Amino acid sequence: MTRGEAMTTTRARITGTGSYAPPKVLTNKDLEKMVETTDEWITTRSGIKQRRITVNEKTSEVAAKAARRALKAAGVLPREIDLVIVGTVTPDNVFPSTACFVQSILGVKSGVPAFDVSAACSGFLYAMDIADKYIKAGISKRALVVGVDIFSRIIDWKDRSTCVLFGDGAGAVVLKPSSGKKGILSSHIYSDGRLWQMLYTTESIPPNPFETKGKSNPECHPYVRMKGNETFKAAVRNMEEACLKVMKLNRLKPKDIGLLIPHQANIRIMNAIKDRLKLSDEQVFSDIEKYGNTSAASIPLALDEAVREKRIKAGDVVLFVSFGGGLTWASAAVRW
Ligand code: UT7
Repeated sequence: MTRGEAMTTTRARITGTGSYAPPKVLTNKDLEKMVETTDEWITTRSGIKQRRITVNEKTSEVAAKAARRALKAAGVLPREIDLVIVGTVTPDNVFPSTACFVQSILGVKSGVPAFDVSAACSGFLYAMDIADKYIKAGISKRALVVGVDIFSRIIDWKDRSTCVLFGDGAGAVVLKPSSGKKGILSSHIYSDGRLWQMLYTTESIPPNPFETKGKSNPECHPYVRMKGNETFKAAVRNMEEACLKVMKLNRLKPKDIGLLIPHQANIRIMNAIKDRLKLSDEQVFSDIEKYGNTSAASIPLALDEAVREKRIKAGDVVLFVSFGGGLTWASAAVRW
């Protein structure tokens, strides 16, 4: 750098958002007919009134619909994308990755790297964190990041403690490099594999014939299992801590936060974080009432709604925070 030349920081900037939720609506009243529950219990314990359910659509197709909307909003063509990362734990197949299917559906060029990230409800923030690093390193100029999950296929529909909580959907963003103040200020991802039994799926890869000793393979299906109460407490604790760290690092006070977009797992979790961070109701975004917990889709879906509802103005600081199976959690601060 020569004397007098302005020092510029390359940041990854979100230049377009998009989302997609399948049209079928499953209300709490519908669930009353399926398991022993009530609309009142679900509403007061979680804040959820309804969720969307996928019918005859693959994860990659749901993801591609959200991605197309994000590309349109960003004014970027699929052939201009040079990186595709999809956060999901409900892929179409074990392999290829959902990202490879999305690449094929959208017509993203051959040779462009496309891969999935498995971090459950933190999948989107994990994927965005990786894309942020690719952009800062100068490797990517136009990255497509998607968070998508179809939990309706891995929920145990007889387990009332989980089946009332989740829904399906996808959200996506397009990231580009930008010099200046706008963009991802910092992004942080965390995990603790020792606590995996708090929230996980049963095994989904069947044993081989040497393991079953010639007997036919037992049914092998990934069903969601969660210790609700423990997960609740860990979510509040870790999400608060992750917010405080990212705020401290970027010297942000509660009044500097334009909007907090937390993972939409439970309105009581979001309210607890709001209170602990001393934020007002207007500073926290929630659409859990309409969609339930959509896992990796929840943050980008909420972000897209917030953008379209004009809840974010140019220059606002948007804080993202997630928590999910793994355990995994993550946070990011973005200047819009
Ligand atoms: O996305 C990843 C992160 N996910 C989360 O962070 C979710 C964390 N957990 C939660 O959101 C909450 O713990 C739940 C919504 C799952 C449960 O709320 P809770 O206030 O922690 O309730 P609980 O688990 O302590 O259960 C209370 C009672 C139990 O009955 P008893 O034992 O007190 O008689 C449950 O059997 O509620 C019962 N119950 C239900 N009753 C009606 C559990 N599920 C239902 C249901 N309808 N669907």
